[in-house]
Amino acid sequence: MKVDVLLGLQWGDEGKGKVVDVLAPEYDIIARFQGGPNAGHTLEFNSVKHVLHTIPSGVFHPHQLNVIGNGVVIDPVIFSLEVKALEAMGVDLNNKLLISKKAHLILPSHRILDAASEAAKGVTKIGSTLKGIGPTYMDKTGRNGLRVGDIEMPDFISKYRFLKDKHKEILTLYKFPYNIEEQEKAWFEGIEAIRRFELIDSEIFLNQQLGKGKKILAEGAQGTLLDIDFGSYPYVTSSNTVCAGACIGLGIEPKKVGEVLGVFKAYCTRVGSGPFPTEQDNETGETIRKIGHEFGATTGRPRRCGWLDLVALKYSIMINGVTQLFMTKADVLSGFETIKIAIKYKINGREADTMPYELQNVEKPVYIEMKGWKKDISSVTSQNEIPDALNDYIKFIEKETGVPVTIVSLGPDRRQTIFRK
Ligand code: GDP
Ligand code: IMO
Ligand code: MG
Repeated sequence: MKVDVLLGLQWGDEGKGKVVDVLAPEYDIIARFQGGPNAGHTLEFNSVKHVLHTIPSGVFHPHQLNVIGNGVVIDPVIFSLEVKALEAMGVDLNNKLLISKKAHLILPSHRILDAASEAAKGVTKIGSTLKGIGPTYMDKTGRNGLRVGDIEMPDFISKYRFLKDKHKEILTLYKFPYNIEEQEKAWFEGIEAIRRFELIDSEIFLNQQLGKGKKILAEGAQGTLLDIDFGSYPYVTSSNTVCAGACIGLGIEPKKVGEVLGVFKAYCTRVGSGPFPTEQDNETGETIRKIGHEFGATTGRPRRCGWLDLVALKYSIMINGVTQLFMTKADVLSGFETIKIAIKYKINGREADTMPYELQNVEKPVYIEMKGWKKDISSVTSQNEIPDALNDYIKFIEKETGVPVTIVSLGPDRRQTIFRK
């Protein structure tokens, strides 16, 4: 059996959570492979909306196992709040949620370091979600991190103190007020919440399950354009959000990757700082934000909105080896007379159709215009009800990218999903 990898092709918030929830019944295991509580994955069914940050989006289905992989960073406080919220809703997590011992822990002092670093950057700040992601991955690669498995060791508290004290030393470099101690009670309570679950060597577990013929869906967080290597550096997150990140973040050999399922919005959004060539900082962007409810699921910040960018999308497809495209939020564009798609960039007076080293050097995108579908499509339930203009939009993307669009999502609810043949 192979592992299918589902990931975002833009700057995050493509609707990954919704699609994972839709596809989960086809799999035995849903496994998150990177990121942490910077993610906000929204699912909607029975008129209720759920936002997950650390826990995989298969959790609402009774027969699926959910694994938090070694590539994930966990904030025990946020994790414990997620567990409480799910259990209050009647979701039984017992024997359904497994956590990798090799996943790293976000300490209160990581969060503070994140905030101090952003404050010191001033106008050049990344626009981080301030969840401590960067500092935690820095400690991981710097070989100083605390891992979930450490909580079962007798020297856990001394290791915690050692790292906290190191962070205090670093914090002397910043003029940033903080109080670690007032956050520690909730943090240690969160550690107890983690202890309730089975802590596993997830790479061994997942490979054994594959050997038994189980189907695994790897769930990515963030998006390709936020990848630490391939995103618009330094305005990126601190993990590998791309397909190869699933091999690292779960311990899966590359040959065992099956389908690569790339999720993208019918337009683009970005939250936080950094270049965004097709951004519409105008009435068009406002309209998309309003109709698409484009506000961050984790921070509530308004998302920057703009037209679909095919140069960037093709780049993401190349890096990930995408085999199927899933397009979300086409319903949001329904009111537009015409819709633009960027097919090239203008850089130094010349046209380019590949991603430049510095995305901020793009002077302006070169657009084509397509006819809109001035029709409410949110209750369309089958492929043949899709308006011609939207079909043309989809076919144009397929022709340009060479990858089939196999799912079209037309609303936040599970049921608002069309499978295309
Ligand atoms: P994720 O981080 O990729 O899981 O995406 P988010 O949950 O952060 O953001 C996607 C937002 O769009 C959420 O509010 C979803 O409920 C919503 N959504 C997902 N698919 C669709 C869709 O096809 N149409 C509309 N209108 N909303 C959608
Ligand atoms: P999901 O999984 C959208 C952005 C932040 C910031 C940059 C770095 O819901 O798609 P970080 O907190 O990682 O230091 O922030 O990355 N960012 C996201 N944007 N969706 C996300 O996750 C994001 N996770 C981080 O806004 O610009
Ligand atoms: Mg999100």
